[in-house]
Amino acid sequence: MPIIAPSLLSANFLELQKDCNMLNESDADWYHLDVMDGRFVPNISFGPMFVEFFRKATTKTCDVHLMIEEPEKYAEVFKKAGADILTVHYEACRHLHRNIQQIKDLGMKAGVAVNPHTPVHLLLDVLKDLDLVCIMSVNPGFGGQKFIPGTIEKIKALKTMIDQEKTNTLIEIDGGVTLENAGLLIRAGADVLVAGNTVFKSANPTETIQLLKKAG
Ligand code: DX5
Ligand code: ZN
Repeated sequence: MPIIAPSLLSANFLELQKDCNMLNESDADWYHLDVMDGRFVPNISFGPMFVEFFRKATTKTCDVHLMIEEPEKYAEVFKKAGADILTVHYEACRHLHRNIQQIKDLGMKAGVAVNPHTPVHLLLDVLKDLDLVCIMSVNPGFGGQKFIPGTIEKIKALKTMIDQEKTNTLIEIDGGVTLENAGLLIRAGADVLVAGNTVFKSANPTETIQLLKKAG
């Protein structure tokens, strides 16, 4: 069964407690927390203070997706805020290997996200160090965008790399995940589905999470 990671970016910020309670009681596995700095992506969301509040609202895994420049400056502060998994962008890291080691040394699981234009084979030399690769299936910055179909081939290519290198790296898909494409993503090799709008804009989010969980 896939790991389901609802993205809190699409939650109702005036009723966060209600949405957190819903997620806590649902089949959701992780909280996906999207941090945006207005530099790496053309949007600003929230920072470590918010992550700290979410951390206190749940015992589920906090999967923090940093869409920021110079993520190495903030790894420690996100560890203190309670992140379990810290994902940095390939495109934001000049010294990716060092950034990954820093995250692991701080005691978090390490993830790397790749934008739609970045081929997954660029991760070959660090794959064994990665707990997670996040394949962006939209251009990062906003929830509610349309899934980019070429992602399916990237999932398959990454799955082959992981099998060949014999690593336990999880493949996470982020952006435009729907009840219609979830099965296809799982069959291509995805382990983790991030879903923002599909969960929070649905009539029954709890049931939507259940349906995503059954995809594949
Ligand atoms: C986009 C974020 C996503 C976003 C997904 O930059 O990384 O996590 O919240 O939202 P949906 O599922 O609505 O595309
Ligand atoms: Zn994300």
